[in-house]
Amino acid sequence: MLFQLQNSPSTPILLNRVISAIMTLLPAPRQPSNIDKTIHVPAYRTSPGDLVDLAIESSILRIVKRSIVGGDDPFFVADLGQIVRQHRRWIQNMPGIRPFYAVKCNCDPTFLKVLADLGTGFDCASIEEMRAVLNLGVDPARILFANPCKAPAAVAFAREVGVLRTTFDNIDELDTIKAHMPEAQLLLRIYANDEGAFICLGEKFGAHLDTTEELLSRAWELGLNVVGVSFHVGTGATNPASFCNAIKDARSVFLQAERLGFHPRILDIGGGFQDDCFESMAPLIRDSIRSEFPANTTIIAEPGRFYARSVYTLVCRVISRRRQLGSAAASGIPDMLYQNDGVYGNFLNVIMEKEIMVPHLLRSKKSKAAILPKHRAAEVNEKGNEATSPSTAHRYSIWGPTCDSTDCVVREVSLDSEVKVGDWFKYKNMGAYTSTTATQFNGFSSACDVIYVNSEALPDI
Ligand SMILES: Cc1ncc(COP(=O)(O)O)c(C=O)c1O
Repeated sequence: MLFQLQNSPSTPILLNRVISAIMTLLPAPRQPSNIDKTIHVPAYRTSPGDLVDLAIESSILRIVKRSIVGGDDPFFVADLGQIVRQHRRWIQNMPGIRPFYAVKCNCDPTFLKVLADLGTGFDCASIEEMRAVLNLGVDPARILFANPCKAPAAVAFAREVGVLRTTFDNIDELDTIKAHMPEAQLLLRIYANDEGAFICLGEKFGAHLDTTEELLSRAWELGLNVVGVSFHVGTGATNPASFCNAIKDARSVFLQAERLGFHPRILDIGGGFQDDCFESMAPLIRDSIRSEFPANTTIIAEPGRFYARSVYTLVCRVISRRRQLGSAAASGIPDMLYQNDGVYGNFLNVIMEKEIMVPHLLRSKKSKAAILPKHRAAEVNEKGNEATSPSTAHRYSIWGPTCDSTDCVVREVSLDSEVKVGDWFKYKNMGAYTSTTATQFNGFSSACDVIYVNSEALPDI
């Protein structure tokens, strides 16, 4: 489902019309792209956040209406306009650095289609990721097979479909490439590390500087073509110096390659970019590239999280509750809520990245006010519906649906209302490493419906 916001001149908000327009739609399947199912709601103006809230509200009403028991699956709302805004930010802050979006971060075909229309390249790590991008009609020249340790069958597949650019960081990989894609355009992935990153990748990937000469020599002996250098400082990077150091190292490897007779021309600065520190880090990265590399070098990057994280909001439902009794109650242990998604589903980052999740309570059906955006909730209250903010704090821990006790989403949160079975939580910024890492542990489905909204004009749709 896709609900498009148009920035047309302001006219009275026809809320009921908007909600019923959304409600007539069914949740979108994950395949294929839903980009052409845009629903135009003319003459409606609101903020992107309110648009997402409207979509959540209408979906909840639909779920509640559809079944007495109520839906027990979480769902996403994706604002495709947010992709456009992130891309604009990228272009403004990283001019001349072409993004190859890292598909591993979120492989939703609708999301990928918007990026394809915006003209980005794609970093794929597997046959399936390449297929997902090629299925959208993307030219294989826009794909970088950015996995330095590939199965021979994957290399052969890449060659067959025309994806010739790939990375390596070890001798044996060169043999695999020689055997299955001798005309490959190779990027030597070098070691880089931001100690403060959420997940450091340097222990697994990246050739150390004392090995690059030998690797390049072997590539030369095999008659392979090294066209550049890549690195990745770690996902969720915070330290611009890690980029600057890696850029310096990459320059020295360029010079080694040139001495051997290669003509390297591509520097790939990888991913790791975060929303919060993007504007402050970008100029330092740009300066470092400018001071180390000749102006005719092609600079590319592999951002994942930067593009995907803020696009998706996840909505979960409380399926069970344990109010503490006896000694647990006496010692103040918070009551426990169980929701329909957890660390084995879309919340793996609680474990992997130690992310502190922030649940926003959307109150259940009778209190209509609570699933409306705040300013409108107040309006509804004045008309005598249920109050939205009792002053007493209610302390909870929030758990996922599986039988594993590590499946804890929030250790403790204080909310201003009591939460009951059937209530809903909204979690913002759930687009990165969520749906792509979800498992089916304990038989809970890893596929979520996605409701699409659009708060910007999309390119050519
Ligand atoms: C090779 C490679 N490129 C790009 C990315 C995307 O990184 P991020 O989402 O931090 O931008 C990753 C993530 O692990 C990666 O391994």
